[in-house]
Amino acid sequence: MKILVATEKPFAAAAVEGIKKVAQEEGHEIVLLEKYQEKQQLLDAVADVDAMIVRSDKVDKEVLDAAKNLKIVVRAGAGYDSIDTAYAKEKGVVVENTPGQNSNAVAELVFGLLVFTVRNFFNGKSGSELKGKKLGILAFGNVGRNVARIAKGFDMDIYAYDEYCPKDVIEQSGVHAVDSRDDLFKTCDVVSLHIPATPETKSSINYDVVNLMKKGGILLNTARKEVIDEEGLLKLMAEREDLKYITDIKPDADEAFKKFEGRYFSTPKKMGAQTAEANINAGIAAAKQIGAFFKDGCTKFQVNK
Ligand code: 3PG
Repeated sequence: MKILVATEKPFAAAAVEGIKKVAQEEGHEIVLLEKYQEKQQLLDAVADVDAMIVRSDKVDKEVLDAAKNLKIVVRAGAGYDSIDTAYAKEKGVVVENTPGQNSNAVAELVFGLLVFTVRNFFNGKSGSELKGKKLGILAFGNVGRNVARIAKGFDMDIYAYDEYCPKDVIEQSGVHAVDSRDDLFKTCDVVSLHIPATPETKSSINYDVVNLMKKGGILLNTARKEVIDEEGLLKLMAEREDLKYITDIKPDADEAFKKFEGRYFSTPKKMGAQTAEANINAGIAAAKQIGAFFKDGCTKFQVNK
């Protein structure tokens, strides 16, 4: 079978080697499309492939229609909001993700960004420490749990809220479980977002909820830009000069946020999962899942059942 690895933001070379090795062992052929600039390049590349491995690459109706032989798309990562899963289902194309494979990388970046923030973006002025501060984790999935694990090393006071995770599961991890999202924002000095982008979460981090934060609150987003109500957050940051917004996903209104100098930072390109380890873990998991799909019909990680 022909497997296309389509990554506008490429994997580390070692991950690509690993993917090729796994595919070759299963008798499949790998075709690479990295750093493409135009959608047409993707449309041309998918024309005759049986499977695809992607990152945040957009797999929409047009791509799915152009991929006449496609049977499976594996998102090497967690969030699959960039894939039209419903249309794929209509066309009989299996969509899978590789949950947990890149979550440590994202969690480590949370702390890189946090230290950078509380030390005033390394501008030389006296900052503060994370020890003893209240950290709020919104959604206790693979990334949220890794964030909690690392936060213990910083001796932070850790809180979490996840509407799909029972409170006792959170508490078994040595984390305070709060009753609501509002309580998390009210309680914590820092709130770190780990919710997926879904119709329910879209624009859900809005003026009212962020305004619940205490003086000096830090909102940290390594999840998705779509979960933020950018207009509401801009309005709030203009009103509250104490709040900071730090993100790994450049907002659409990046230019407007930039005026909050010293209170806003965005990485130029989403960096959370951009480590060799995460690329290797997620890339090889994707290749193995495709191997199992063609060999045994395994669809364990299917997200569009
Ligand atoms: C994910 O959903 O797995 C992360 O956001 C990483 O995305 P990326 O592969 O596009 O860096």
